Amino acid sequence: MARRTKIYEGKAKILYEGPEPGTLVQYFKDDATAFNAEKRDVIEGKGVLNNRLSEFFMLGLQAVGIPTHFMKRLNMREQLVRSCEIIPLEVIVRNYAAGSMSKRLGIEEGTQLSRPVVEYCYKDDSLGDPLVSEEHIAAFGWASQQDMEDVLSLALRVNDYLSGVMYAVGIRLVDFKIEIGRVYEGDFQRLVIADEISPDSCRLWDIETGRKLDKDVFRRDLGSLTDAYSEVARRLGILQSSNITTAPTVVK
Ligand code: TMP
Repeated sequence: MARRTKIYEGKAKILYEGPEPGTLVQYFKDDATAFNAEKRDVIEGKGVLNNRLSEFFMLGLQAVGIPTHFMKRLNMREQLVRSCEIIPLEVIVRNYAAGSMSKRLGIEEGTQLSRPVVEYCYKDDSLGDPLVSEEHIAAFGWASQQDMEDVLSLALRVNDYLSGVMYAVGIRLVDFKIEIGRVYEGDFQRLVIADEISPDSCRLWDIETGRKLDKDVFRRDLGSLTDAYSEVARRLGILQSSNITTAPTVVK
């Protein structure tokens, strides 16, 4: 096979030039990192699970009318996506306090918030993705006022969709992070959900037991990450078995 042009390599994914102009191939690696890559490991099977889980969530979002960059899954580790200009923000939505919010504000993890709280972090690894306000976003021109109205609306719609899907399989959506991109169609631009949606970018707790089914398992050394992600995939009907560590069997 001809060598593909690598466009970008991140901590968990690689982007290659796609087969048509305006497309990219998004490859899911097995690498896991936390705390801005201070902690890292290779977890066999994670990329396969996240590829499939992200496909599931992106297709679900599209089915309820929320645009995403996802076009189709190509194989176990790759998906075809629309190329877009990523707004340099990590958009975080929180339903329960956890992680950096609990630490920053001294709120016990698991405290339900009175309404979803949306936060923005400036995407810059060298700065550790700092929390920023809409004032910073406007002042530094990272996104326009109109973009930010659309970003907020998209983030809350994704939250409603994901919360419902997870609740239906006995999982609490504590919080999640999304990235949003601009696609240009003639003179118009529209915003789409980009990057990935997976247990790497969400906090997912079993409603009954509180068991963590997300990347906190890796961040906090709580056991097998692939067992946790496989459990999410199994409950969503994506995998046949909850006990897959190497080569998960895709059901559909
Ligand atoms: P935080 O509590 O550490 O700020 O994380 C909030 C949410 O964002 C959580 O679901 C994990 C996700 N997240 C990422 O996807 N990437 C990151 O780099 C970080 C720090 C968090």
